[in-house]
Formats: sequence, structure tokens, C-alpha cells
Amino acid sequence: MIKQLALSAALALAPVASFAAGDEEQHIEDFAFSFEGPFGTYDQQQLQRGLQIYTEVCAACHGMRYVPLRTLADKDGVGLSDVAVRAYAALNFEVFDPELDDFRPAKPTDHFPANDAVGAPDLSLMAKARAGFHGPYGLGLNQLFKGMGGAEYIASLLNGYTGEEKEEAGTILYENTAFAGGWISMAPPLSDDLVEFADGRASTVRNMSEDVSAFLMWAAEPKMMARKQAGFVGVLFLTLLSVLLYLTNKRIWAPIKGKKTA
Ligand code: HEC
Repeated sequence: MIKQLALSAALALAPVASFAAGDEEQHIEDFAFSFEGPFGTYDQQQLQRGLQIYTEVCAACHGMRYVPLRTLADKDGVGLSDVAVRAYAALNFEVFDPELDDFRPAKPTDHFPANDAVGAPDLSLMAKARAGFHGPYGLGLNQLFKGMGGAEYIASLLNGYTGEEKEEAGTILYENTAFAGGWISMAPPLSDDLVEFADGRASTVRNMSEDVSAFLMWAAEPKMMARKQAGFVGVLFLTLLSVLLYLTNKRIWAPIKGKKTA
């Protein structure tokens, strides 16, 4: 009986243990993003650079089908003007219009197009779908201190190529220290000076990977700033309510408690 219990306990623990062991192989760097912490906000310049990188580099393989183009005008986010959004949509993307039965330039009311060409995953929610930090041992303490680390994961992935490659079943795999399993089929998408930033920021792989990761965080959570603000106001109200309830409680019991001490 005891043996059986021990065996089932071991079996129950086994997947957890191997999960934790698998994680430790992945190297995720803790980047300092502007949107971290309870009062962190998106850096609009950074989001605009990230949009540029996504458009010029990643969009060739990755779609973002859940992100409406009009949200590029959100003041808390990328913050383009309405005119700029219209021009950006029309210049960069074509969508199929069933009414015209033909392709036409995209409008702000369309979403970023999907892209199924090379089997690359959609990036709309990628920053929420991958966690950079776990454990230890599934306790989630790392996440408490460092956050979920979706943007850190993407930035680490883009920085994590070792330069090694191998061919497996006709596919070329590239060694990457951030990717689970260590070998990814995405060729290193970034190289120094690949894009030219209007604000003069040096386009090193590291800078670009930070910028595009911040942009993908915004794409996955465009209302982050509103959420943090609402949370802060909520905590403030609850604190005030606690103080008032404490005082009310004291007041209500005052005649009874007062008798005892008198
Ligand atoms: C040449 C095509 C191509 C380009 C360009 C490209 N990717 Fe990828 N990407 C892929 C493919 C294919 C995969 C799937 C890899 C796999 O699962 O082995 C992938 C996977 C990913 C993943 C998911 C990794 C995971 O954990 O599953 C992320 C994140 C990503 N790409 C980000 C980017 C970013 C950001 C850019 C632009 C800087 C970019 N990619 C440019 C082809 C591309």
C-alpha cells in the first residue's frame, strides 16, 4: 500500500520535475522594459520603432490577425495620428475584400493580415502566450518578482542565436539558447543595421529585439496602462474603505468597550 502510494506520488511529480528541468535549459535574460512594475508605461517612441521592425522584417512571415490597425492611433500605445494610420495601412498591407471579390489596400478598420505562408505562428498574443520566468519548482516566485516575462522571452529569443545550425528531416534548425529544446526553425531574423530608425537610435540586434518585443507586448495587451491605473484606483478605494470600516467599528463598540475600561 505504502509502496503504491509512493509510486503514484512519484508519477504525479515526474512531469513537474521534467518541466522544471526543461525550463532551466532555456536562458531568459531579464530586460528592463519601461512598462514593468505597477506604474510602468509604454514608451511611445519604442513602440513606433517596434512597429517599424515588425512591418519591415517580421510581417514577411508572421501575421497579427487579432490586432485592428485602427488601434495604432491609441494614445496609450503607438500613438500614430489618424492620417498616419490610414497611410500606414494602405501602404503596407493588402486584404481580400469579399464584396469586391479582389484584394484592396488595407484600411484602419481592417486587422493586420494573417500570414500562413511559412507556418510561422501569429504574433498577436505571443507576448502573453510565452512566459519568460517560472518557478522555482512551479511556485511562481520568479514571476512574482520579475513578472511573466513574455516580452523578455521574445527579446531573449531574438538575441539567443549561437550561430550553430543543423539539418533535420530536410529542415534547417538554428541553435537558440532561449527556445525550448534549443533548436528553432526560424532563421535569425535580425542583423545589425537591418532597419534605419528615424530617431537615430542605433539598430543593433539588441536594440531592435527590445523594441520589437515591447511592440509585441503592446499588441498582446494594448490596455495595460488603463488596467494598471484602474487597479491603483481600486487599491486606493479599498484602503480608504478599510480605514472607514475600522473607525465605524470602533464607534459602534465604543459604549460597550467603554464600560469595561471605566
Ligand atoms: C523567414 C521567416 C520568418 C521571419 C522573417 C521571422 N520569423 Fe519568427 N518564426 C518563423 C518560424 C518558421 C517560426 C516557427 C519556429 C519553430 O517553431 O521552430 C517562428 C517563430 C517565432 C516565435 C515563436 C517562438 C516560440 O516560442 O514558439 C517568435 C516569438 C517569433 N518567431 C518572433 C519573430 C520576430 C519578432 C520576428 C521579426 C523580428 C520574426 N519572428 C521574423 C519564421 C520567421
